[in-house]
Amino acid sequence: MTEAYAPGKVILVGEHAVVYGRPAVAIPVFQVRARATVEAGDAGQGIVVVAADLGRTFVAGRGEANPEVLPLEAAVLGVLHHLRLSLKHDLTITVSSTIPIARGLGSGAAVATAMVRALGLHFSARLSAEEVSQLVYEVERLHHGTPSGIDNTVIVYERPVYFVRGGDLETFPVGRTLQLVIADTGVASSTRTVVEWVRRAWERSTDEYEALFDDVGNISRAVRRAMEMGDEESVGRRMDENHRLLQDMGVSSPQLDTLIEAARRGGALGAKLSGAGRGGNMIALVPPERRGDVERALISEGAQSVIQTEIPASQNTPSRVASSIAP
Ligand code: MEV
Repeated sequence: MTEAYAPGKVILVGEHAVVYGRPAVAIPVFQVRARATVEAGDAGQGIVVVAADLGRTFVAGRGEANPEVLPLEAAVLGVLHHLRLSLKHDLTITVSSTIPIARGLGSGAAVATAMVRALGLHFSARLSAEEVSQLVYEVERLHHGTPSGIDNTVIVYERPVYFVRGGDLETFPVGRTLQLVIADTGVASSTRTVVEWVRRAWERSTDEYEALFDDVGNISRAVRRAMEMGDEESVGRRMDENHRLLQDMGVSSPQLDTLIEAARRGGALGAKLSGAGRGGNMIALVPPERRGDVERALISEGAQSVIQTEIPASQNTPSRVASSIAP
């Protein structure tokens, strides 16, 4: 049996604007993860995919996958095609995940990454991170039409990234460890639907949305600099500013705003929605000694679950990793 994992992710700053070419900063979240295993199956069974959390099983390539599991089938077909292998294999692929679905934590990209990695291992193929990221990007297009590529990038490379669509992935040093609290509104939100809604709003009011995206892009640049310098107050302030811009874009929700206010009252240095918005998760930057206060404040305001994570200080010199994902 081969097995592989992939972490979740959160976007620290820059969601939505990143679809329109502005920079964003995202980090992996190792407290949640997707897992995929590949085992030899019975003769003639074909490639059976067991989606444990969804309670669905299907044979890949036979037109029996329902819409919910189409991205899983696409991941299998994508890897086989990439490795120039036929569908004539008898395998059982089992997928499970502790990443809540449709909450902005990258569950779709993480599940696809774990599957691509496990299949690569099974066939003894040395897939580079770039190849895995590209394969997962193709699956992401099924999930939400016009993905920027940030989810597959941060999940596959497993480190904080400063990301510009169509550009090279940039890593950077982090001057001081940052503590984050992530809280779930419990409201499912389809990235595809929200991204399409923003596109229609941008088409109607292009100048207004372009100006909002420009402001977000400046925030992402400033956050990267502040992270490099270990200036957590500045990172927090920028997160607050980014949330105001996301409200202006029309992608926040009363539940998100309630949790964000609660985190600020609990002592957070800054807080904002993370991901597509309208539901899903918010994130708060917290001083280490206030983590408990912020977590209690979030739970008392109705958070469905809370994850504590951190962005570790690192000496990573800034580097660029070539990306072949088209803008
Ligand atoms: C989703 O995690 C982030 C969005 O910016 C969409 C994307 O970048 O593809 C909303």
